[in-house]
Amino acid sequence: VRRLKLGMVGGGEGAFIGGVHRMAARLDGHWDLVAGNFQSDPDKSIAFGKSMGLAPDRAYADFRTMAASEAKRADRIDAVSIVTPNSTHHAIAREFLTAGIPVICDKPMTTTLRHAQDLADLAAQTGLPFILTHNYSGYAMARQARAMVEAGELGAIRIVQVEYAQDWLATDQPGNKQADWRGDPSRAGPGGALGDIATHAFQLAEFVTGLKTESLAGDLTAFVPGRKVDDNVSLMLRFAGGAKGMLWASQVATGSGNGLKLRVFGDKGGIEWAQETPETLLFTQLGQQQRIIKRGGAGVSASSTHATRVPGGHPEGYLEGFAQIYTDAAELIRAHQDKRKPNTFAQLAPGIEDGVRGVAFIEAAIASSKANGAWTHIPA
Ligand SMILES: NC(=O)c1ccc[n+]([C@@H]2O[C@H](COP(=O)([O-])OP(=O)(O)OC[C@H]3O[C@@H](n4cnc5c(N)ncnc54)[C@H](O)[C@@H]3O)[C@@H](O)[C@H]2O)c1
Repeated sequence: VRRLKLGMVGGGEGAFIGGVHRMAARLDGHWDLVAGNFQSDPDKSIAFGKSMGLAPDRAYADFRTMAASEAKRADRIDAVSIVTPNSTHHAIAREFLTAGIPVICDKPMTTTLRHAQDLADLAAQTGLPFILTHNYSGYAMARQARAMVEAGELGAIRIVQVEYAQDWLATDQPGNKQADWRGDPSRAGPGGALGDIATHAFQLAEFVTGLKTESLAGDLTAFVPGRKVDDNVSLMLRFAGGAKGMLWASQVATGSGNGLKLRVFGDKGGIEWAQETPETLLFTQLGQQQRIIKRGGAGVSASSTHATRVPGGHPEGYLEGFAQIYTDAAELIRAHQDKRKPNTFAQLAPGIEDGVRGVAFIEAAIASSKANGAWTHIPA
């Protein structure tokens, strides 16, 4: 199978997630990075691209030149990854979609619902694949959990409890490049922890349960004095069909690293999965002992096996989960190029709808919190 050619916007010197995307794209051998505009400073972007071994004419000074030049090439990129601060996603994604190039974008997709809907319209018009890197839905055991809910092993879902706790913003972080833009609403958008990590928790809860959250009631707080965006998010959730839930996300939860954890309780059984112990899923059938289901173990779902690389007992985790999204993206893009249906596993990859819902979720949570926790409909 021909490798696909990847371009990247963002992810330059000292950046965080761009480097993770590059590792993830390499892991399963579907992608080669061939082009990029890695930083907003043109000279630094070109220098960084060359240092990554790119051809000099594909280390670009800005994303507009990159989209226009790539669109003209016979060996053009098959997709662009957008790994810049949130406020830039819309313009960059728009430029590449308009140039006919599929997009892999990090979350939150945009900073306004209007912009999210604009991208959804453009993706629909162009028919181009659009993948959103909600990477936690790429973990084998998150897919196992989804398969078990889908197979009815939990019965009717009653309760969904999800949390994402970090502590790296428990104090001001002057001089920290990542903290800097995240605390600035003009670059991060209106949400702090809400856009940064609550969106992951929200997407994971909907991914695993297959349920849509209809409305929420929220209380957002900025605990660190002077912070302009929330750093703690408490929400109650109402799902279509009657399930109830709670979502807590915090970047000031002392002692927490990346504590993303999901519990789902149905009338026949319950499951629990945590990102920091991703190889196992706890499953209890009503009236039975709790069982530990292991990645790669007996009886796991086909979707979980598909997202598995090495035998159980050899730990997989963050990079493999992220790589799964790139592998799914490769299948979606090849299927688009070959005018065929993608395999069913790749269809699990988060896309433009997750992007729109994520931004609608942010806007609803902010509106609810401003209205003293009033129940607020999620408008998309
Ligand atoms: N999926 C995840 O788990 C995850 C984790 C972290 C970050 N993210 C998302 O990834 C994005 C980037 O976050 P980060 O922590 O890597 O940020 P970062 O500050 O570490 O990196 C951003 C990079 O984008 C570059 N950049 C900024 N504006 C640009 C422009 N106009 N053109 C080209 N390059 C530009 C910067 O120079 C920098 O290299 C954000 O949207 C964030 O929410 C997702």
